[in-house]
Amino acid sequence: MRILGIETSCDETGIAIYDSHQGLLGHALHSQVALHADYGGVVPELASRDHVQKTLPLIRQVLDESGLKAADIDGVAYTAGPGLAGALMVGAGIGRSLAYAWNVPAVAVHHMEGHLLAPMLEDKPPAFPFVALLVSGGHTQLVQVDGIGQYLLLGESLDDAAGEAFDKTAKMLGLGYPGGPILAKLAQQGNPERFRFPRPMTDRPGLDFSFSGLKTFALNTMHANKQDEQPLDQQTKADIALAFETAVVETLVIKCKRAFKQTGLSRLVIAGGVSANQHLRSRMDELCKQNNAQVYYPRLEFCTDNGAMIAFAGCQRLLAGERQGLEFSVRARWPMEELAAI
Ligand code: KG4
Ligand code: ZN
Repeated sequence: MRILGIETSCDETGIAIYDSHQGLLGHALHSQVALHADYGGVVPELASRDHVQKTLPLIRQVLDESGLKAADIDGVAYTAGPGLAGALMVGAGIGRSLAYAWNVPAVAVHHMEGHLLAPMLEDKPPAFPFVALLVSGGHTQLVQVDGIGQYLLLGESLDDAAGEAFDKTAKMLGLGYPGGPILAKLAQQGNPERFRFPRPMTDRPGLDFSFSGLKTFALNTMHANKQDEQPLDQQTKADIALAFETAVVETLVIKCKRAFKQTGLSRLVIAGGVSANQHLRSRMDELCKQNNAQVYYPRLEFCTDNGAMIAFAGCQRLLAGERQGLEFSVRARWPMEELAAI
């Protein structure tokens, strides 16, 4: 089965074609970073308008680059949530309409299920069951995954998501948008001995997270290290960036270790935008080595939003017989536990 995947939940238009026998046949991404940069964050209305302009040309491009025609497509998968409602409506509207015009089935895909299954596009896919750490701009979740659609939420962020905390802290440091990767780059020049940030919610049992306090801690550290009215020097910024990143990474490591203990599982999938972070990857590699566990990540370009993960997840659900009716809707919020097992 050959599936066209469409992702428009936030600030990237992602298109891909996945074949259940041949694997990924083509994919392309249009990032809206330049469009939102002046505003320091995603402007939902601008995001929707840009998806309107980019989605169809990108679908044409991916079909052409894959040497395929519309008639070669057996189904259409589109992200139906969670995300920005207007942005989701664009991909869902185009996806459902194309499926109707091409007389093939359509399926609505959950964005976080897409992230969660993204490591299955790699050569050594993880076997079920496993623990998944989902770390994106909108979500931080630990999930026990027994199969596709069999998700038990073990813990989640009670306030800011990990990526959101990266972005907000980067903004405070004046680093620009999107802050996560920029802050991570600056942190490479940081002195690890200078500041120590807390590891929130690790001193009590449980697998929930809270990252909003780290942002305040970063702000207080900035104020405490300002010389009169002078802007912060670059080295202090780098030291704060590293202390912040280390606190997020170590907190995630502590919780993953706990999740291994609680579930008895020894496979860990890490996905979502923050899984591109190299500091996080090297510490998670160490954790898994120490615990005789296996760790799985998507390739770097499929950590952040993309069409390939949606085409893949949609393909699995279409193969299992799932179908979207002729009507369609999107959900800005959509708990993953509501998904049907396949
Ligand atoms: O999964 P994603 O593309 O979008 C959502 O579903 O939210 O994740 C985007 C998030 C942003 O907050 C971005 O700053 C963060 O992932 N991110 C990173 C890195 N690359 C992306 N955070 C830390 N280090 C990185 N290298
Ligand atoms: Zn995402």
